Amino acid sequence: KVADLKGMKQGQLRLAVVTTAKYFVPRLLGSFCQKYPGIDISLQVNNHQEITRRIQDNQDDLYILSQPPEDLDLCTEPFLDNPLVVVARHDHPLAKQKNVSIKQLRGEAFIMREPGSGTRQAVQQLLEKHKVKVKVRLELGSNEAIKHAIAGGLGISVLSKHTLVLESLSKELTILDIQHFPIQRRWYVVYLGGKHLSVVAQTFLEYLIEETQPITKLALRA
Ligand code: PGA
Repeated sequence: KVADLKGMKQGQLRLAVVTTAKYFVPRLLGSFCQKYPGIDISLQVNNHQEITRRIQDNQDDLYILSQPPEDLDLCTEPFLDNPLVVVARHDHPLAKQKNVSIKQLRGEAFIMREPGSGTRQAVQQLLEKHKVKVKVRLELGSNEAIKHAIAGGLGISVLSKHTLVLESLSKELTILDIQHFPIQRRWYVVYLGGKHLSVVAQTFLEYLIEETQPITKLALRA
């Protein structure tokens, strides 16, 4: 496969991903670019609603998001779990308890992502299903800011577990063991149904699936 030889693939790759994916995609791009130094990349990071709009407008080659919109003609491929967990400061009263009822979250001071966020939507659905009303103290458009707000004692939140990797706050934050959590979600790599993928986009798509496969297998075994 001569065309696969190092440096043979050239061109631009336009990627757009939801905010929870920004914790692993740049790393993956690092190794990808090492393998294919001729490829230039632009990476957009935004919430679910904004990524959906970009898909509709055909702005990028590939997209990564959870829950691909069903009303669009898309090619979708699931590739990695994106569990949402309840995050609190380490000294939270529920931090030492196991298998806590979701009802216990009633009235908790809560930090919520902005409207348009897929994380927010998933959290609201679960809370509504169990008729749990939290006290939203703060709405924030950034996972990073939410973690700092939790550390600052403003409340608890629900975030993708992936937002906690490489966490310098890790001593300050903890995951609460609440029933019905983690909310099990998955990431999909997506492109418009009628779209002819460039060689570069096709190469990245294959690379993404291949590189995340061992992680997926490991998670299934655990
Ligand atoms: P978002 O993305 O909360 O930034 O929209 C998360 C997701 O949909 O998985």
